[in-house]
Amino acid sequence: MNTFDVEWLDAWSPEEGSARAAALFEVTFGQAPAGVWSAPGRGNLIGEHTDYNGGLVLPFALPHRTYAAMTARTDGRVRLVSAQEDGEIREIALADVAPGAVDGWIAYVVGVAWALAQEGLTLGGFDVAITSCVPYGAGLSSSAALEGSVAMGLDALYGLGLAGDDAGRQRLVAACIRAENDIAGAPTGGMDQAAALRTQAGNALLLDCRSLEVRQIPFDLSADGLALLVIDTRAEHQLVDGQYAARRTTCEAAATALGVGTLREVTDVDAALATLGEPETVAALVAAGQDVQVASRRVRHVVTEIARVQEVERLLDAGRTAEVGPLLTAAHTSLRDDYEVSCHELDVAVDSAIAAGALGGRMIGGGFGGSAIALVRAEDVEQVAGEVAAAFSSEGLTPPAFLVAVASAPAS
Ligand code: GLA
Repeated sequence: MNTFDVEWLDAWSPEEGSARAAALFEVTFGQAPAGVWSAPGRGNLIGEHTDYNGGLVLPFALPHRTYAAMTARTDGRVRLVSAQEDGEIREIALADVAPGAVDGWIAYVVGVAWALAQEGLTLGGFDVAITSCVPYGAGLSSSAALEGSVAMGLDALYGLGLAGDDAGRQRLVAACIRAENDIAGAPTGGMDQAAALRTQAGNALLLDCRSLEVRQIPFDLSADGLALLVIDTRAEHQLVDGQYAARRTTCEAAATALGVGTLREVTDVDAALATLGEPETVAALVAAGQDVQVASRRVRHVVTEIARVQEVERLLDAGRTAEVGPLLTAAHTSLRDDYEVSCHELDVAVDSAIAAGALGGRMIGGGFGGSAIALVRAEDVEQVAGEVAAAFSSEGLTPPAFLVAVASAPAS
């Protein structure tokens, strides 16, 4: 029984999204666009805060997408409009794009053009109209969806020839990451951009963030009578604030203190934690401005999380999908207690989903707000959502919103 009215975040059909972007373009710039390109938001089954540690992640594409209607320009200028912003036209010369020079959402757009040009590719200005049904600030990577849609548009408009195969898409991913790191100023790790561009419909993407190799893993939960519920807690998260960067810095300092390139190289977590307690390592960490206890907890999360990704991979390969649930819950505990990136809303979402019968659940994305996922039996979707909404209400929290995640198509 549904215990509470809940809000569902529906995805637009690709036709509707394209039509909306084209209409915004026409109304803004007075002519039809050359084309519309789109890229999905990202879900992530498991592997959180492992990407920038050279680890493993298992994301997939959401049906919710960002649409970019675009036309090339010959004067090196970029004009931008977004339905999700104030509808005003922004304008900038590509030549003026540089680290530190651009603020706000347009950085994610012009940053992609800048990064592709830095790679030596020849491209010029463009007009672009953006619209999106990827929930904003929900930890579902609306930013990578925006970058991915623009990257696809530039690839087509300027004949870059990269979107047609995985090797080319990997180069588009690299440009999107540079846009986000260097122009938008968010030191994110690359999982989201790979999810937007390198996934395949019906599959989750096992991405090795050290080798950048990928493996498509069939991910059709409905065939197993299961569903993945995404709970947008409506507690807005931000990656450009200091908390995300601080986690990354601590991991890098811990890797240096342990004498490894990245935490991926740590295989024995107990031995690593013992090493972190030795006087020399303690001194190195303190000199790097790090608290040893905190660094130890961060390391424990990263190393155990990479092992959980491998365990989930094994279970999916063996068709034992329902058994993934407890690993999701273990990941949440680790993210909450060792990595300290959860928040009250995320904990309420996970705890109430499990109390309502979910097989497991965890926060996803960077954390400090955003969304949680819960693995549920297909017939329990409505009931679990209702009970989570009821729990939010009794805690006096803003009502959450929900979607059922189906592994969808990559950028196109
Ligand atoms: C954000 C970042 C990703 C990744 C996750 C945490 O989504 O953009 O690169 O680090 O957080 O797993």
